[in-house]
Amino acid sequence: MTTSNVDFSKMPANGRRATFEATLETLHEKCGGRPVNIVEIGTSRNTIPAAMLADGWSTRVWAWYAAAVGGAVTTVDVAETSMASARVICADYHHCVTFVVADGADWLTHYGSPIDLLYMDGPGDSAFHLACIAALVERPKFILFDDVCPTSEWKAGGSDDPLGTKAKTAIPRLLSGGYQLLWHERFTIHPPSGDRPQGQALLCDMKG
Ligand SMILES: C[S@@+](CC[C@H](N)C(=O)[O-])C[C@H]1O[C@@H](n2cnc3c(N)ncnc32)[C@H](O)[C@@H]1O
Repeated sequence: MTTSNVDFSKMPANGRRATFEATLETLHEKCGGRPVNIVEIGTSRNTIPAAMLADGWSTRVWAWYAAAVGGAVTTVDVAETSMASARVICADYHHCVTFVVADGADWLTHYGSPIDLLYMDGPGDSAFHLACIAALVERPKFILFDDVCPTSEWKAGGSDDPLGTKAKTAIPRLLSGGYQLLWHERFTIHPPSGDRPQGQALLCDMKG
């Protein structure tokens, strides 16, 4: 699909195509194709192409979009080795990506620029992701979480376990603070093996 000046069929290969495409199309529509500021916590850490299925290879996707609209990406990761891989994976986009080696929550405490899209994909630790949300100086317009699989029971106020290890405390905090769940999508990373379904959830700041 082509929206305005961005041809989403040209999105670089990744392991979350449906959700990354839906996210960027939403961002593109709501921001009118202007230069956007994308921040990512948890960078693309493995240059082996097979790793994109499990990890996603998000960083290059955000960079591709930022390059198309004249925007910027900041990717933050605590591991030097992860950042070295991201630099290789994003070799075509160094002009619009800032690579930061730091703890994500610490770094966000000092980051005061407006964020259009925050991608939360750090360690499998809900306390870390909650700390990142609590550290935000500015309210991002959109926040996308990886490894989230909300169910109808969760939406009705039941168990929050399907929110997974990353977002299970951060998403309820955001919902009570004026964010709305725009959509979530389930996907299975290794379909034949019967791995548990994973997914992604996009939230929007309704106060912004
Ligand atoms: C699942 S990977 C990110 C995958 C990437 N978003 C992609 O789509 O390819 C998680 C990353 O979080 C990083 N990480 C772990 N603890 C962190 C912290 N405290 N602050 C920032 N990043 C952290 C790890 O080093 C790792 O590279």
